[in-house]
Amino acid sequence: MHVRPEGPEDVDTIRSLTTAAFRDVPYSSQTEAAIVDALRDAGALALSLVAVKDGEIVGHVAFSPITINSEATNWYGLGPVSVWPDQQRKGIGQALISAGLSRLRGMHAQGCVVLGEPAYYGRFGFVSDPELWYSDVPPAYFQRLSFAEITPKGEVTYHPGFGAT
Ligand SMILES: CC(C)(COP(=O)(O)OP(=O)(O)OC[C@H]1O[C@@H](n2cnc3c(N)ncnc32)[C@H](O)[C@@H]1OP(=O)(O)O)[C@@H](O)C(=O)NCCC(=O)NCCS
Repeated sequence: MHVRPEGPEDVDTIRSLTTAAFRDVPYSSQTEAAIVDALRDAGALALSLVAVKDGEIVGHVAFSPITINSEATNWYGLGPVSVWPDQQRKGIGQALISAGLSRLRGMHAQGCVVLGEPAYYGRFGFVSDPELWYSDVPPAYFQRLSFAEITPKGEVTYHPGFGAT
């Protein structure tokens, strides 16, 4: 398996994959595929990576810029991240996220946030931080990973593409 940036030919597969991955997720808004499209259309897919196994796309991860206290900060939001249901729990998500975080560092990003299962994202170094919050999400479920010495404090806002339906 290898991880590479998306190409124009991957767009339809990414949409199907994202829809399938989130179909049975209880907390899903079922808008994740539309969010990825909206981010791409807005030029806000800072990073969009696909995992490829035996020539087929098996997973996808998106990263987009966030603001902190309404200011651009060179921080990014991880997600949506998707693996085909029959391919989950084989390390594909982990490979995608690790590759994405490594590329973000290479882009001189200052940090990354994620909304999701603390047990899963903790393995990448994400920690909860009550001083960097998102909406009314409990701190345990909104985590951050700083690439720099100083972590900003304040309220995180995702790109407007996350409002896509
Ligand atoms: C979440 C997702 C991207 C993870 O990708 P994956 O390829 O299945 O996961 P990996 O194989 O890399 O990681 C597996 C490990 O993470 C754990 N894990 C996977 N999903 C988890 C979850 N939701 N909560 C806690 N642990 C989880 C597994 O137990 C496994 O642990 P182990 O390595 O100790 O056995 C994938 O399951 C998926 O597409 N899920 C549906 C969509 C979704 O929920 N996306 C994330 C929303 S923020």
